[in-house]
Amino acid sequence: MKGLILSGGTGSRLRPITHTSAKQLVPVANKPVLFYAIEAMKEAGIDEIGIVVGETKDEIVEAVGDGQAWDVSVSYIDQSAPLGLAPAVKVSKSFLQDDDFVMFLGDNLIKSGIAALVSEFSSRRPNAQILLAKVDNPSQFGVAELDGDRVVKLVEKPKEPPSDLALVGVYMFDRNIWEAVERIEPSPRNELEITDAIQYLIDHGHTVEPHIIDG
Ligand code: TTP
Repeated sequence: MKGLILSGGTGSRLRPITHTSAKQLVPVANKPVLFYAIEAMKEAGIDEIGIVVGETKDEIVEAVGDGQAWDVSVSYIDQSAPLGLAPAVKVSKSFLQDDDFVMFLGDNLIKSGIAALVSEFSSRRPNAQILLAKVDNPSQFGVAELDGDRVVKLVEKPKEPPSDLALVGVYMFDRNIWEAVERIEPSPRNELEITDAIQYLIDHGHTVEPHIIDG
């Protein structure tokens, strides 16, 4: 299994903090938030990691290097423009090939790590697995509707949320994701959305399972 960390993007919503530097290098308890993602992958047994980079590539490379500090191997994947999360997956095809992978948004921090998620994926073998967390204000998030241990629908910022389970920025996929990211159409905000790719999997008979965390 491989790891993919998304560290491109523009970080416009964290300005001015991210006006001159990468959002993923903003420190949390004196450590860049991106380092927690690398540590979480290593702890889950993943030591082949691709990092998607954009205009702040130089700073990210300077901070992470070849991954030796974590005893992992890091490859950098250039995304020419921050066109969305599904395009970030698409540019990573030659790195990921047909392997299973965990995708981690480089500005997310998961208190409990991802080892439990990764081992659940490996033993249950769904086609995709998404991380969910209970929130008080689901209307502001992507929200999942569940039927038992299946995800049946994802809705973006719903006025009437089907649950209080919001999508967290960690996802697991098998090779079926490639057809999904090729087939989806741009959303109303004109991005190819990873949530639409996951909905495509559900609508085409693939299994998408939830993994609920707190923290
Ligand atoms: P977002 O927070 O959705 O986007 P952003 O970083 O562009 O921020 P803002 O909306 O405030 O301008 O991105 C989540 C993570 O994914 C973040 O680590 C950046 C990364 N990302 C990419 O690598 N490529 C992309 O095309 C996008 C949109 C995000």
